[in-house]
Amino acid sequence: MLFMDRPAERPGELFDREGELGALLRALRDRAAVLVVGMRRVGKTSLLRAATHGMSRAYVDARALEERRHVSYADLLEALRGALREVLPLHRRLGELLATVRGVQVAGVEVRFQQGRGAPRLVDLLEALDRWGEERGERAVLVLDEAQELVKLRGRDILPALAYAYDNLRHLTIVYSGSKAGLLHRFLRLDDPESPLFGRYMERIDVAPFPRELAVRYLEEGFAAAGTRPDRRLIEDAVDALDGVVGWLAHFGLRALSRPDTALEETLHHAERLAASEFCHFVEAMGTHRYIHVARLMAAGARWSDVKRYLTALEGRPITDGEVTKLVRNLVDYGFAEKKGDVYTLADPALRRALPRIKCRHQEP
Ligand SMILES: Nc1ncnc2c1ncn2[C@@H]1O[C@H](COP(=O)(O)OP(=O)(O)OP(=O)(O)O)[C@@H](O)[C@H]1O
Ligand SMILES: [Mg+2]
Repeated sequence: MLFMDRPAERPGELFDREGELGALLRALRDRAAVLVVGMRRVGKTSLLRAATHGMSRAYVDARALEERRHVSYADLLEALRGALREVLPLHRRLGELLATVRGVQVAGVEVRFQQGRGAPRLVDLLEALDRWGEERGERAVLVLDEAQELVKLRGRDILPALAYAYDNLRHLTIVYSGSKAGLLHRFLRLDDPESPLFGRYMERIDVAPFPRELAVRYLEEGFAAAGTRPDRRLIEDAVDALDGVVGWLAHFGLRALSRPDTALEETLHHAERLAASEFCHFVEAMGTHRYIHVARLMAAGARWSDVKRYLTALEGRPITDGEVTKLVRNLVDYGFAEKKGDVYTLADPALRRALPRIKCRHQEP
């Protein structure tokens, strides 16, 4: 196994993950919908792409929508189009099926969607995927990677189409993957009786950081495959600092091959920058710098009542319980904070390190 700087594409490229891979393959065979959840850089995309390699698959990457405040139906169609362009060169038949959908033009491996009123309906596109699966004698798979970004979709409700697919399309499995579990739930509204998807069962697969011994072995094997054997101490330090998150271990491993002395520092710096930039997007989207103060407080562990007391003192005026709850809940739903007992802490050590110096644009004084 070599260190890679891109997601794995085939099962053979994965280090470990047998359990997750087996569970995912079973779910893809039997279930109409699957959730795959895990923190940033933990290896979700690799697991998903490797598991669905060679299947009738359309892979939508909604990460590109992360920086948007709002997402339109046209944006969703564009993301879908990207997924179809990856498949059509290999599967002409899917092109023929799509060409029968109103609002879709297919020319060779190119697919075009009409805009505005003539745009194709999501239901019709999902039906085309279902028919493709049926003809191939398997379930087609639609992966919506970073699906939580679709919570920002305005102007059209796609949940009815997703619920229709769940109930009626027997040859289609939809995988919803995301690094912000709370937001993913907010998007799908599985527990909301008013939601079209209410009560639908979705198999959930959690992708977790490697435990310590596995993280050490991952680094050892990666270095061995590259023909080097660095100091045990360097490996130990890296695993201590990077917490078993394979994306950061890979980043470190690749750099350590040429610059062992500075690799860990570079990787930590990179992780901090990513964490800070994500957090600032969130702060800007939410429109209040209160999140920075609350997150700094949570970095050392804080209860709901600590948050309330701290903000009241900081701002010199009372803050309502509802406001405190909203701040805390958003931090959890967006994956920045986690609750253990009644104490909130920050999930990502890189964010903890970045927070004391973090400066977000448009930050209020
Ligand atoms: N099981 C694995 N074995 C070896 N390398 C892996 C494994 N999983 C992930 N990686 C490596 O870790 C890095 C991050 O993986 P990946 O992009 O799959 O994670 P992710 O959770 O989708 O990240 P993000 O949150 O940024 O989307 C990649 O360089 C990939 O090659
Ligand atoms: Mg990913």
